[in-house]
Amino acid sequence: SGPETVSPTGQATGDNPARMAQSGPYLTTAQGARLYDSDHSLKAGPRGPVLLQDHHLREKITHFDHERIPERVVHARGAAAHGVFRGYGTASNISKAAFLAKDVETPVFVRFSTVLGSRGSADTVRDTRGFATKFYTEEGVFDLVGNNIPVFFIQDAIKFPDIVHAAKPHPDREIPQAQSAHDTFWDFVTLHTEATHHTLWNMSDRGIPRSLRMMEGFGVHTFRLVNAEGASTLVKFHWKPKLGVHSQVWEEAQMACGFDPDFHRRDLADAIEAGAFPQWELGVQTFPDNPEQMFEGIDLLDPTKIVPEELAPVRTIGLMTLNANPSNYFAETEQVAFHVGNMVPGVDVTNDPLMQGRLFSYVDTQLTRLGGPNFPQLPINRTHAPVNDMLRDGMHQTAVHRGVAPYRPNSLDAGCPFLAGEDTAAFIEVPVEVPESRKVRDAAASFDDHFSQARLFWLSMSPVEREHIVAAYTFELGKCYEQAVKERGLKSLARIDAQLCEQVATGLGLSAPAPEEPLADPRPSPALSQVGKVWPLD
Ligand code: HEM
Repeated sequence: SGPETVSPTGQATGDNPARMAQSGPYLTTAQGARLYDSDHSLKAGPRGPVLLQDHHLREKITHFDHERIPERVVHARGAAAHGVFRGYGTASNISKAAFLAKDVETPVFVRFSTVLGSRGSADTVRDTRGFATKFYTEEGVFDLVGNNIPVFFIQDAIKFPDIVHAAKPHPDREIPQAQSAHDTFWDFVTLHTEATHHTLWNMSDRGIPRSLRMMEGFGVHTFRLVNAEGASTLVKFHWKPKLGVHSQVWEEAQMACGFDPDFHRRDLADAIEAGAFPQWELGVQTFPDNPEQMFEGIDLLDPTKIVPEELAPVRTIGLMTLNANPSNYFAETEQVAFHVGNMVPGVDVTNDPLMQGRLFSYVDTQLTRLGGPNFPQLPINRTHAPVNDMLRDGMHQTAVHRGVAPYRPNSLDAGCPFLAGEDTAAFIEVPVEVPESRKVRDAAASFDDHFSQARLFWLSMSPVEREHIVAAYTFELGKCYEQAVKERGLKSLARIDAQLCEQVATGLGLSAPAPEEPLADPRPSPALSQVGKVWPLD
């Protein structure tokens, strides 16, 4: 009497009839007692008071009263789809992960989201978008929990509550709900200048996608892949949409918000229903796993930095096709639980301090959001690999465990869990040197450069893209009440580019400050002989 199986699309097939949801010839209570009337409560006479003994009335209303669960603390608004990932086999020499092998097909569930708005907020706001993919691999679940912007606001997870508090609605007025949380948001990103690069991406056309089907996705952090020989390679993951990257201009987004606040989720669901299945290629940039964790002067552990594709090309390793809409929003899109730490053999983390904090945060929040430690048993979260863990009991336990000795080794149960060999196991640590043994609350000096890549991004923009960026900063900074915040915003812009700063200052009716420091040389100076030589997959 194990739990019911899960179809390739992640839906409960309900092969255990007792658990089939809401089917069968008769309406019943939750206990299976047949009902003859669900429209009238039990009363002492047709015009008399309602009787407490009406079990069906109490059950129906009690369950309804508890239908809502907390929305996600961030990324509350999302839309999702089922699909399939097919490996090209081109990554097999850098990762032993089975799902990357040639022509292996793996079911996936992808949830796209905005970061800041609540569950009922509008789709076409200026914000970062989440791009989270659950791969139900034969070796266990692998979650790639990324965004549509390749860098992040902060370098250390300890600041995550702070940036989210600054960007979420004001605690007194509960406005606004999008990226432009005005004074507190701009106060934060101008005082914590490592946020400059991400903020510039948000103010660019990337901040308002045309469609969820037309967004890139990024793993953001540097990951470590491990091959069958135990050799490791550092990588950055990229999703490249087959439909290309497209955006809405501000005016379009405003109209879409007004006409159809569900613009993006409707577009995704309609396209899939019509058979126009969106596709993305998964790609990696690869870097040698050297003790410095640097590449061409770029700190690979700093999540506010990209590695330009001119220095390390993105090479594709598989194709994802989204081909089925969820059949139940709550059971799938709302209850799905992603976690950076869900990894399979051949994929590992790095010392990026933002990534390390995420390893703690996701399960921790899901313990509250999904009511205890057994949410991996929910149909959408269930692995498609056999499970033989030693976990027991807890809120919302649905498994009926057998045996008396949930520890190993034990001499009492015949089916004592055994351990895999190192060749098939996940979480095999690569023996990486820990460079310092001294405890420090500090960051590497290479984390101090907050402006050079923002400048690189600005300089790569076309004239019309620059116009949009200037308009976005002018509008958003213009909404700040505090003059000091606007002025600090201009000081940040002065460190990106004089033209950008001057144009925004003009729009705000303020004077443009001079940069406090000389502008950084944005071009990492690669030894040209290195370019194109780092790719070990061919
Ligand atoms: C949710 C991405 C940084 C905490 C999410 C989701 C995505 C995401 C895509 C939505 C998952 C879904 O659709 O259910 C990222 C990226 C980050 C980042 C790309 C940086 C590179 C962080 C950090 C923390 C954090 C630093 C905390 C220390 C959370 C929490 C949720 C969340 C608590 C809600 C999860 C849930 O309720 O299931 N993040 N995030 N994130 N993130 Fe992050």
